[in-house]
Amino acid sequence: MPIEMTVATVAGAVAGDRSGGLQLDGFCYRDGRLVVEDVPVEEIADAVGTPVYIYSTAAVTRAFERMRRAFAPLNAQLHYAVKSSPNLHLCRLIRELGGRMDVVSIGELERAWLAGTPMADIVFAGVAKTEDEVRAALDGRFSPLAGRAEAFGREDLLTRGPVGLFNVESAAELERIAMLAEQVGVPARACLRVNPDVDARTHEYTTTGLEENKFGIYADQVPGLFDLYRDHPAVELAGLQVHIGSPVREVQPYVETVKVLLGLLDRLEAAGHRPSVLDLGGGWGVDYSEGESSTPEDYAAQIVPLLAERANNGLEILLEPGRSIIGNAGVLITRVQYLKQGRKKRFVICDAGMHTLIRPALYRAFHFLWPVRPPAQHLAPSRFERPDLPGLVECDVVGPICETGDFLARSRPLPEMGQGDLLAVFSAGAYGVSMASNYNDHGRPPEVLVDGAKATVIAERQHLADLLETERSPRTLTTPASEADRE
Ligand SMILES: Cc1ncc(COP(=O)(O)O)c(C=O)c1O
Repeated sequence: MPIEMTVATVAGAVAGDRSGGLQLDGFCYRDGRLVVEDVPVEEIADAVGTPVYIYSTAAVTRAFERMRRAFAPLNAQLHYAVKSSPNLHLCRLIRELGGRMDVVSIGELERAWLAGTPMADIVFAGVAKTEDEVRAALDGRFSPLAGRAEAFGREDLLTRGPVGLFNVESAAELERIAMLAEQVGVPARACLRVNPDVDARTHEYTTTGLEENKFGIYADQVPGLFDLYRDHPAVELAGLQVHIGSPVREVQPYVETVKVLLGLLDRLEAAGHRPSVLDLGGGWGVDYSEGESSTPEDYAAQIVPLLAERANNGLEILLEPGRSIIGNAGVLITRVQYLKQGRKKRFVICDAGMHTLIRPALYRAFHFLWPVRPPAQHLAPSRFERPDLPGLVECDVVGPICETGDFLARSRPLPEMGQGDLLAVFSAGAYGVSMASNYNDHGRPPEVLVDGAKATVIAERQHLADLLETERSPRTLTTPASEADRE
């Protein structure tokens, strides 16, 4: 059960009531300190320690509604990409807003379902679905939660039915799904993930729609697979899916992709197929620094006209947004442990690092950082890498991990910090905690969800005992080799 915390609150410190230049739903500086909705960050840090991830309910809600409104002319269904921030309670919140779910593993699928999502509202992507995963997605009898779902309030595991859609990444995967669907006796519904060979113009590690990437099926191979599986007794091919990368800050790559998909739909229909689903995936960008990304309205302005007629004629449009819902709804709070003046650089050494938030180390991603209680002359500016303020000191903000790549920011002008100060890492809601690791034997940080004046611990800090658990009882494997040895 999540635990509600009692913390001091400040009346009226909600989005829209801001001081300083920081423009972010759910987060503002009030009386010189950072508050999340009506709760001062310092109070949360004192209650649960640091590092800690804090999310704003209002920010999630506004981002979700904004995305929904932008694509309402297509009646698009939003499938939240669970991978972006998978906490059960965040999934529940998004579910309550009307979100469906997009998952890429059986673990994510079970989370989505435990959060109250009907199986029919879940799409299951991922390039390497194992036989066990496919079976569990078809039939709850094979779920890793068998015998345990009741503890999470779900009694209906055995009767939950199959996942709404498999998003299939290869001919071999389709063959596996068909074989298992026949074996289990539950028909599967699927979309083919198309590799449109479109450059999303984002980081090379998160570009997924080019021919050299491992994802999807080349467009020219799609009609053949539809033909092969026409009238298949165990698999219905319902349509097409695509995901070209993340974050995709420009609109044009989506436009190019939609054109490829429209051409494919025409070809499929000409061959007598009746595709009824078009899933455009995720990747919709958000601002990490002010004005860097297209907005939901920008994307919709060019995509809606391309698809309006087909949507009116019954084509179901799905989107899989993750970052655009949760990215700017979360902050990471870290405490400064030491200051170190090197010969070449000044280091601010924190208790969060690449194990807590890997995006800077992995992608050289930018996150705006600012003290939770900055000096009066340095009230939080807009999220720019080099704020135009006098008296800032250039520093590397680094963590405790034994890697030079362990940094949150490099050569970043910041207000003078002191040992014990709190630092906020903004726009950390997506791919923050979900990519956190136990490297160097650190437990994963707690997560707190704020709603007005209420702060709820929605994930506890992982303790060393949790980390040691899987190593507690070594057991000798009985194998043919060990048996032979014994004889
Ligand atoms: C298949 C698929 N859908 C959706 C997403 C979500 O992307 P984003 O969080 O950028 O919206 C991803 C992210 O990698 C993905 O791989």
